[in-house]
Amino acid sequence: MTRKLIAGNWKMNGSLQANAQLLQGVQAGVGAPRCDVAVCVPAPYLAQCQQLLGEGPVQLGAQDVSAHAFGAFTGEISAAMLRELGVRYVIVGHSERRQYHGETDQQVSLKAKAALANGITPIVCVGETLLERESGQTELVVKRQLAAVIHDNGHCISEIVVAYEPVWAIGTGKTATPEQAQAVHAVLRAQLTAASQHADRIAILYGGSMNAGNAKALLAQNDIDGGLIGGASLKAEDFLSIVAACP
Ligand code: 13P
Repeated sequence: MTRKLIAGNWKMNGSLQANAQLLQGVQAGVGAPRCDVAVCVPAPYLAQCQQLLGEGPVQLGAQDVSAHAFGAFTGEISAAMLRELGVRYVIVGHSERRQYHGETDQQVSLKAKAALANGITPIVCVGETLLERESGQTELVVKRQLAAVIHDNGHCISEIVVAYEPVWAIGTGKTATPEQAQAVHAVLRAQLTAASQHADRIAILYGGSMNAGNAKALLAQNDIDGGLIGGASLKAEDFLSIVAACP
């Protein structure tokens, strides 16, 4: 079993002042955590956060990366650029990017590949919408999303992190029950096991309204290896209580 990971996804929130305050709070309280801890911050603040985090236990993450290495791709940020800024993790295929930016399974997979090629761990997000869940397609959807990434990254698939984020649970205050989440995590674990001898090393995070109150029960499940935290990562106290809930 792998060491658990609690990663904050700040999404499009923050300011120079607010980031400094938040990270000061997180660093003051994090101590020597039992799990890995990371914050995925907006791109303009990567340099600021790299400096504030220094060599401490909280690692730096980004929220997206280009599938391309360099060139005429206005507005995009390459994995090599992220690496230069000390980025250790990058979220790829978040449902907000799939939904609002039309990202396809194939693009997500190539983004994961670009990250891996630069020594950055992609946090590959998968998850079904409410409509898909209600029509019994959850398993089909998450397996299709993950299959694309396995197809293009087979040889180094054990280097990725997966995040199961049911779209209906994101930012809604509705959380998958520990049993609902575990059931999907088990499906993902089986799919990874078929693709890699080292699937037990791959952290599968849960994301979707994880908070101080529900983290412990979710993290106690067999195949839940951590969390990808949105709203609750914006308050040091809330984020730290999720870190502390790691067994
Ligand atoms: P919330 O924790 O705000 O539901 O967001 C989850 C998420 O999308 C993390 O990537």
